[in-house]
Amino acid sequence: MGFPKNRMRRLRSSPSMRRLVRQTSVSVDGLVYPLFVREGEGIKEPIKSMTGCYHFSPDTVADEAAEVSSLGIPAVLLFGLPGRKDDIGSEAWAENGVVQRAIRQIKKATPELLVVTDVCLCEFTSHGHCGVIKDGKVDNDPTCELLAKMALSHAQAGADIVAPSDMMDGRVRYIREALEENGFENVAIMSYAAKYASAFYGPFRDAAESAPAFGDRRSYQMDPPNADEAMAEIALDIEEGADIVMVKPALAYLDIIYRARQRFNCPIAAYNVSGEYMMINAAGAEGLVDTEATMMEVLTAIKRAGADILITYFAKELAKLLS
Ligand code: PBG
Repeated sequence: MGFPKNRMRRLRSSPSMRRLVRQTSVSVDGLVYPLFVREGEGIKEPIKSMTGCYHFSPDTVADEAAEVSSLGIPAVLLFGLPGRKDDIGSEAWAENGVVQRAIRQIKKATPELLVVTDVCLCEFTSHGHCGVIKDGKVDNDPTCELLAKMALSHAQAGADIVAPSDMMDGRVRYIREALEENGFENVAIMSYAAKYASAFYGPFRDAAESAPAFGDRRSYQMDPPNADEAMAEIALDIEEGADIVMVKPALAYLDIIYRARQRFNCPIAAYNVSGEYMMINAAGAEGLVDTEATMMEVLTAIKRAGADILITYFAKELAKLLS
């Protein structure tokens, strides 16, 4: 064995040869496209911090969702910007809240498109934290009760999957119980199980107007250096009733995705977050990298690490490219 009998370059010699031995490919099947819905009518405004992304109102988001579906993308993920915020985020579970209305409009226009909803209070609270505050800290258990109310109201409006992103302990159990007790046993939970306190969320917080007014999220989101803790978080969420578990962000956490793949049998989602998206777009706009090729390489790497589901702002672009 060895050179010259073995020449690794043989199987790289032509596009067809490379295609023949290719191990990983991205497809439209596992894609989820995030959408931002804000209070109002007839809105489609570009989001400054995120190239190619828009703020929609509940009426216009239905058209956008229909287009997403026509590209073959199976799911959208909804984030809401309410007209009114308060200290407990009560618009989050309002029957006629911005997200609840958007869900109904999308389901009416495009019933086959899966609607996933982000379940978290940070866009709805006046202080921008992901839960209720007591003595300057996010109070875990009362927050879980509100998150369960929020998830239930999304299910009542027609959501297929609820996705808690708050990182409170026990929230999956609270949500699973609320869904069971109210006849929504078939609504799936995709938990942001291993969600890190990441600097890569910068552009999103601008888009979602959800930056914390004081302090940071480090007492609830995970500390980036830790890997074993992510396995513990994922195991707990599965035990509490999560159907799909997520690792977030994706690119700086490929090792976490890989470890989770080795260890757990349920579908694994990876969130290619706003900062990762804009890093490529910004470098592309500067002429430093080829945006499309870089996007492909990164999304393929996330799949290669073991993700089944890719949540990405590139979803539409990728779907167009693949068709
Ligand atoms: C809400 C939430 C955030 C993101 C998704 N859900 C922001 C945060 O935790 O501060 C980030 C998504 C992105 O950066 O693309 N808690």
